[in-house]
Amino acid sequence: MVRKVLFPVAGFGTRMLPVTKVVPKELLPILNRPAIEYVVDEALNSGFDSFIFVISYGKEAIIDYFDVDLGLRSFLAERKKESLLDLIKEVESKVKTLSAVRQKIPEGLGHAVLSAERLVGKEPFAVILGDDLIDAEPPCLKQMKELYLELSAQTENHSLIALEEVSLEEVSKYGIVEGERISDNLIKIKRMVEKPSPEEAPSNLAIVGRYIFHPAIFEYLKRIPKKGGEYQLTDAMQLMIEEGYPFYGYIFQGIRLDTGNPKGYFKAILHYASKDPELREILKSFFL
Ligand code: G1P
Repeated sequence: MVRKVLFPVAGFGTRMLPVTKVVPKELLPILNRPAIEYVVDEALNSGFDSFIFVISYGKEAIIDYFDVDLGLRSFLAERKKESLLDLIKEVESKVKTLSAVRQKIPEGLGHAVLSAERLVGKEPFAVILGDDLIDAEPPCLKQMKELYLELSAQTENHSLIALEEVSLEEVSKYGIVEGERISDNLIKIKRMVEKPSPEEAPSNLAIVGRYIFHPAIFEYLKRIPKKGGEYQLTDAMQLMIEEGYPFYGYIFQGIRLDTGNPKGYFKAILHYASKDPELREILKSFFL
């Protein structure tokens, strides 16, 4: 079973400066909930029960958000603010097993994932990148978990990553894969390259922020060289492929919203607002 999910949330959020100087980008609100809660909900609704956060200096508020605040609870109880108390309890009861580890130096996504090695142990686990909100039913990670388990019947030691087709101008923002199509939405990956130029890109299939890894990824993360000051997750995956670990790519069903930059963040707010009947009316009134 895959039950542990890792959230690397240690980054500076430079694309969202200056607000991220003091507020972690994962806590910026999409309507009245922080962005991180959307991906935590996705993991919960996909059957995960063990949550690991890789944080860094100044980002403790992310885990505090899901922890129990007894002071706030008694304040709301004394003042008979029952519905607010229920709201707080609802959030605080989401993550039952909450662990966190600190990435002390910002040395890239690969290094962040490696920081959690001891908490994950030797079992397959999922990784969600909090920038990529995916609105899907069933949730994207659930679609992937089911597929991962189906693949276990035919193969072993495999990993599965989410893919999305992007335009050629955008390939340099992503890890890009080359592979062989097994079905409409499943690819057996042969090669992957981190942030290629459009000329170098082997396809327009981009890795987006959902992964289910074989635990051998940790050994490979220790073997790859640093590039531009960072250890790239993509380089460790590429080395695993070269050494015979099967990697599959799943073109998920759903809408991805990249909240890591101002335009994408604004779009995510509009997307979720347009799903709420009252907010939809407010949105419409702007354009009349
Ligand atoms: C990371 C990964 C990249 C992936 C992307 C998805 O890049 O390194 O392979 O395509 O996330 O959002 P980042 O956006 O952190 O630069």
